[in-house]
Amino acid sequence: MAKQYSVFLQNPPLLFFLLLLFEAINVGRAARLNQWESGIRLPIEKDEPQDIDDQQLGTTWAVLVAGSAGYGNYRHQADVCHAYQLLRKGGLKEENIVVFMYDDIAMHELNPRPGVIINNPRGHDVYAGVPKDYTGEHVTAANLYAVLLGNKSALSGGSGKVVDSKSNDRIFLYYSDHGGPGILGMPNPPYLYAMDFLDVLKKKHAAGSYKEMVIYVEACESGSIFQGIMPKDLNIYVTTASNAQENSWGTYCPGMKPPPPPEYITCLGDLYSVAWMEDSDTHNLKRETIKQQYETVRERTSNFNSYTFGGSHVMEYGNTTIKAEKLYLYQGFDPATVNFPPNELSPETHMEAVNQRDADILFLWHMYKNSEDGSKKKETLKQITEIMRHRIHLDGSIDLIGTLLYGPAKGSAILKSVREPGLPLVDDWQCLKSMVRLFETHCGSLTQYGMKHMRAFANICNSGVSQSLVEEACVAACSAHDPLQCHPSNQGYSA
Ligand SMILES: *[C@@H]1O[C@H](CO)[C@@H](O)[C@H](O)[C@H]1NC(C)=O
Ligand SMILES: *[C@@H]1O[C@H](CO)[C@@H](O)[C@H](O)[C@H]1NC(C)=O
Repeated sequence: MAKQYSVFLQNPPLLFFLLLLFEAINVGRAARLNQWESGIRLPIEKDEPQDIDDQQLGTTWAVLVAGSAGYGNYRHQADVCHAYQLLRKGGLKEENIVVFMYDDIAMHELNPRPGVIINNPRGHDVYAGVPKDYTGEHVTAANLYAVLLGNKSALSGGSGKVVDSKSNDRIFLYYSDHGGPGILGMPNPPYLYAMDFLDVLKKKHAAGSYKEMVIYVEACESGSIFQGIMPKDLNIYVTTASNAQENSWGTYCPGMKPPPPPEYITCLGDLYSVAWMEDSDTHNLKRETIKQQYETVRERTSNFNSYTFGGSHVMEYGNTTIKAEKLYLYQGFDPATVNFPPNELSPETHMEAVNQRDADILFLWHMYKNSEDGSKKKETLKQITEIMRHRIHLDGSIDLIGTLLYGPAKGSAILKSVREPGLPLVDDWQCLKSMVRLFETHCGSLTQYGMKHMRAFANICNSGVSQSLVEEACVAACSAHDPLQCHPSNQGYSA
């Protein structure tokens, strides 16, 4: 490991080249995007198809979550801001939309357009007007749960806005971030654990405080949040950007097609996220069904079936009967779209994409290339090498723990094994959390990248090995690790 690594240190272009080798890059045409201005609001047309529920329509609520921070993750907050604008154009009220975003992008020193966030190379500002409900340290899993449950006394900081929904209301939840098997990221630890999130949904359902809910999730391995644990009887329909065992993808990235404006060194969006929002922006949502959007988004997110070159499998969970409903019930209806089609086959617009886990290295690399001043360049290179060093440490120590626990022949296969579809990632979710804490105590923080190893911890739990044995293995594997490097005592445990 050390030897390989020193080659990277001395030769940063080689490092990038190697990353590129592993990177699935998919060349294609630029996405066509209809740009239109929202015009004067017209009264809702009489001849629009009316759903049966129209007479008894409740309120539509939305919860939008960007679970990351940092300029290298620009795209997640850009996605969420875009979603906010789309819902507002659709007529949802600000008081019914709760936004979680770290809010460190618009005024970031690297942002070439201060105070502006775009989610598309030709896009307009999507930041203006986005409410600062839960920002900075208040973007937490606990606050998200409190917001969903409408429990103000469980909140810590923030605007105090919660989903105070009634039995006839609908809820739209959209999450964009990094993730890993069983978890979604949060800028402040701990991460969101699938079973905790599901418990919140069950409580919300038991309280009878919504009619139906639609959830869209973009993250690596996002299918694992629902696979095998999402019931069909909660009146919730879910789609995820990827299945339980694959990456999701950032797009509109520097050096790729279609590229962001040249002054941007970070990706502007994520493949699944821009697919659903650009679909919603250009169609009449009183006519388009959730199912039609799912199919369009599935097609585009697969990058037209070229999965290995930057695409993922959009998955669905929960009650699929809800799919027959029209989208406006969740995303609203913008009168300016009245003459837009309900749905059309999107032209095959391949988008180059970067595996979400390498998007931050790509960002730092562009920062390195762009900085002229020597000390800044050095600093950036140091950052890249530190990230790579920690990644190699994480990968290596997990491998070694597998070998110690199960022997060299079986270790890797056991840690990487994928359960049959329909089975949850792990049977004992508390065990999963304990494993993560044990590992972080001895081996350092998992970090955004290390989320990919969650399946290994899950499999250790599934194999029934005792905690004390795992602890011994962690100590043995990581005793040489500098305990102050990336230790959770700085930032908090991710579990
Ligand atoms: C709201 O949260 C508080 C604090 O966590 C808790 O004690 C209370 O039981 C919760 N209320 C409901 C209705 O769940
Ligand atoms: C699924 O949703 C439909 C439409 O709301 C409802 O009629 C049906 O009972 C639901 N199915 C389950 C298993 O709850």
